Amino acid sequence: MTPAPSFDDRLIVALDVPDSRQALELAEKLAPHVGFFKVGLQLFLSAGFAVCDALSAKGFKVMLDLKFHDIPQTVALATAQFADHDIALATVHGYPQVVEAAAKTKGDTKILAVTVLTSLGPDELQQSGFAGSLADLVRLRAVTSLAAGADGIVCSPLETALLRKNLGAKPLIATPGIRPLDSVRDDQTRTATPRAAIGAGANHIIVGRPITKAPDPAAAARELLREIE
Ligand code: C5P
Repeated sequence: MTPAPSFDDRLIVALDVPDSRQALELAEKLAPHVGFFKVGLQLFLSAGFAVCDALSAKGFKVMLDLKFHDIPQTVALATAQFADHDIALATVHGYPQVVEAAAKTKGDTKILAVTVLTSLGPDELQQSGFAGSLADLVRLRAVTSLAAGADGIVCSPLETALLRKNLGAKPLIATPGIRPLDSVRDDQTRTATPRAAIGAGANHIIVGRPITKAPDPAAAARELLREIE
């Protein structure tokens, strides 16, 4: 099955499954409602670009979430690999050197800079040596990443409203850490509902377990989309 022609590309579903077969099965199951999928570390390490190509051949959009963070030369060479594939969005960590390197070789792929992971809270930041506030760090990483050539950022839904106000309408904002009211937080810390994230100004919400681990993933996706209609 191919995605519905008018699918709502604000919803990106994280295909956090171990192999290509399971990823494509899940995508097919969700295809009546979802047309945008995220390939992350687990799936990419098992299935590589082949699974991205298989998804895009079926008409799905692909976000490649490998969160590059390395020296500029290594990042630029890695990002140059996107040229032969149809990757709509890709992530790097929000450090200016990293973003600048990725922006040089990204081709048609849009680069999103991860500000501060949504699993982290103030305590984890302090343990990592950051003395300032989490909100300030998110803002700093967003502003410097956009100046370095990022097309958008990844942040938690809790920072989205303020960032949208500060950054204006143009940069893409994608938010993981999405949890419908009745679902568990798992390892996420800075969470909000789909409706709150979209209302705060996110272009995309990235949702994994609340859909993929639901007894009926297609019904969970449908319900979530209804919430943001
Ligand atoms: O299952 P869950 O909805 O928590 O999945 C969120 C997805 O978004 C995961 O694939 C995770 O790797 C990704 N992500 C995140 N926080 C970021 C960037 C990406 O949770 N800052």
